[in-house]
Parts: sequence; C-alpha cells; structure tokens
Amino acid sequence: MKIAIVYKSLTGNTKIIAKSIKEALQKQNIIYFGEPKDNIDADVYIVGSWTDKGDATEEIKKFLLSLENKKIAYFGTAGFGGSNEYYIKLFNRVKSYIKKSNKIIGYFYCQGKMPEKIRQKYEYLIKEHPDDKNIKISIDNFNKALTHPDLNDIENAKKWIKSILEV
Ligand SMILES: Cc1cc2nc3c(=O)[nH]c(=O)nc-3n(C[C@H](O)[C@H](O)[C@H](O)COP(=O)(O)O)c2cc1C
Repeated sequence: MKIAIVYKSLTGNTKIIAKSIKEALQKQNIIYFGEPKDNIDADVYIVGSWTDKGDATEEIKKFLLSLENKKIAYFGTAGFGGSNEYYIKLFNRVKSYIKKSNKIIGYFYCQGKMPEKIRQKYEYLIKEHPDDKNIKISIDNFNKALTHPDLNDIENAKKWIKSILEV
C-alpha cells in the first residue's frame, strides 16, 4: 500500500497534524509527504488543508479533483472548531471535489489557532458594537483556538489514521 500525505498549511497548524500522521505511519510505505504536485503515484492519499472562508484551499481542491480510483482520507484544521456540525458542513463541501470513482475512507478535523490580525479585527468590531454577542463569541473562540492543535488533537489524529488504515 503506497501512501501519500499531501497538505497545504499557511501558518503551520495543518503541518503539525500532517507530521503527526506521518509519525503514526512510520512503519508504512509513505512515498510522498508535502505540498500538492502532479504525478504522485499512491494507492492511498491522505489529504489535508487549512480552512479558508469555509472551504479547503484552491490547491487542495484542485488536487482532490485530479484523483481517480483512489482511496482518500481527508484532514483539516479550522479556526472555528469544537463543533461537529461545523466540521460536517466543512467536509460536505470538500466532498464535492472528490470524484465518485474514489473511495472516501474517513475525515478528521481539529481546531487551529488563528493569526493575530483576526483578533484585532474582532477588537475593532467590539468597540463599534459593544453589545454584539456574536463578536464576543468570536473573541472567546479565538482565545480557545490559541492552544490548538494541542497534544490531544495530535493523539486523536494519530489514532484516527491508524484506525482507518487498520495498521
Ligand atoms: C484568510 C483566512 C480565512 C479563514 N477562514 C476560516 C473559516 O472560514 N473557517 C474556519 O474555521 N477557520 C478559518 N480560518 C482559520 C484557519 O483555517 C485556521 O487557523 C487553520 O488552523 C490555519 O491552518 P494553518 O496554520 O495550517 O495555515 C481562516 C484563516 C485565515 C487566515
């Protein structure tokens, strides 16, 4: 079983998860680890992306669309984490880039800390609208995300990939 781990990470969170998955599969035949590129010849593709405006990145979407007759596992990190419903929504979108000839063998999400400029935006907004509950929720979520991915997320990612590949 030839395995490729293909991911896109802007600030490092998704890379942490990608590396953890690689570590969990160290005894397996990993033929590629890195950013999307053409002509990766594997049986199983473990594909990961950070979440950009509710979706995977353009590079990952394009890469997923290029796959046919493969086994695909997907992992993602998202700033607004913690809710399964949100992750399901995100993955439903990702699914639309996976052609029917492939077999989706599983997916995994965890929360990932967000850039400081996003907090600055919320702080600006809360000054303008001090009673806005949604902005407060966003700030709380920003703070909650700061420690992620944490050791628990890493362990969960490792367990996830080992269980779906049965290794
Ligand atoms: C421009 C931009 C857009 C984002 N959009 C979303 C989003 O729609 N939903 C979400 O949950 N997180 C969003 N995030 C947060 C990132 O997906 C999250 O911090 C992720 O863990 C970053 O992963 P990376 O460190 O691998 O780049 C966004 C971050 C940026 C910078």
